[in-house]
Amino acid sequence: MKIVAMVGSNRQDSYNLKLTRFLQKRYTNKVEVEILPIDQLPFYNQDEEYNPPEIVKEIRNKILMSDGVLIATPEYNGSISGMLKNALDWFSRVEQVLVKKPVMIVGASMGAMGTIRAQMHLRQILQAPGIGALTLPGNEVFIGSVHEKMDEQGKLTDEPTIEFVDSVVDNFIDWVEKTKVF
Ligand code: FNR
Repeated sequence: MKIVAMVGSNRQDSYNLKLTRFLQKRYTNKVEVEILPIDQLPFYNQDEEYNPPEIVKEIRNKILMSDGVLIATPEYNGSISGMLKNALDWFSRVEQVLVKKPVMIVGASMGAMGTIRAQMHLRQILQAPGIGALTLPGNEVFIGSVHEKMDEQGKLTDEPTIEFVDSVVDNFIDWVEKTKVF
């Protein structure tokens, strides 16, 4: 199963990037996860949507060929980052590659709420007509106080969190299979 991942932070030491890399390694026998370079996308411009920059076409094609999408979102001012919104805007127009794509959401922050508000917004955005993703219901992976649950190398160390994420990944794999009929 081929999963592509979008990480909503372009910070070198991003917890969300580390979390995505952790998932990439941990479930390597179940799914192949490729991280998409959405930080390299230019600002969305409606004038260019019918002839977008090459990077837009490349990433769009990877999404199209994938079985599902993992989104790791930080929380910026109570919502998703501009970078992630920019990527979703590109993918919502002309070739709407997220339509009926199964999506799993995770998010990590040092605060107690673990990106709850960002994820609420993200679920709403993913339902926009031009996006129309099939977001995995429930299974809300809010990793709060992430600095206490991850080591320096980016490995999750908190057993209850790991067990929960394991169960969500299994549910997502099941969801990807189920949504193939749509
Ligand atoms: C933040 N941060 C933040 N945290 C939070 O829990 N709620 C919030 O609304 C915000 N707002 C916010 C705005 C901006 C512009 C920045 C840069 C940061 C803190 C944020 O969660 C923290 O920097 C995370 O570590 C960002 O995720 P990455 O980069 O570690 O993946």
